[in-house]
Amino acid sequence: MVRAFYARIQADAELGPIFAAHVDDWDAHLVRLTDFWSSLLRGTARFSGSPVQTHAALPDLSEALFQRWLARFDETCATLPNRVLAERAQLLAHRIARSLWLGYQLQRDPDAPARDLSSG
Ligand code: HEM
Repeated sequence: MVRAFYARIQADAELGPIFAAHVDDWDAHLVRLTDFWSSLLRGTARFSGSPVQTHAALPDLSEALFQRWLARFDETCATLPNRVLAERAQLLAHRIARSLWLGYQLQRDPDAPARDLSSG
């Protein structure tokens, strides 16, 4: 799932360049993200990181980019044979994207009212 998703991300016209600018070592990134999803979906506790801080350091993220990230994620999940796992991954991805987007706005501009991610 992680490899298929990041292949789509790298091919994406808007998200691809952002990752290309920030990820030097794709193998290390994929291991880290596999640990992240393994912790969430399998309860392995292999991931320790601070995604809110990591994303707060990226300039110019927007609601549209988060929606685009989710669209690529949903497309990936649609191809997975394990439907139970795919649906749980989607549910968690949407929840985490929402909280990362709120956290991003709060970190970058604490005085501005944060906008929610519209569901859909
Ligand atoms: C606009 C949407 C997003 C963009 C452009 C984006 C971009 C990135 C980039 C460039 C990195 C690597 C940063 C670095 O190593 O310096 C990263 C790390 C990461 N991303 Fe995202 N991301 C997005 C949304 C999400 C979402 C919705 C999730 C989870 C559902 C997520 C999970 C992660 C995790 C777990 C890491 C590693 C964090 C760490 O090492 O502490 N990202 N992201």
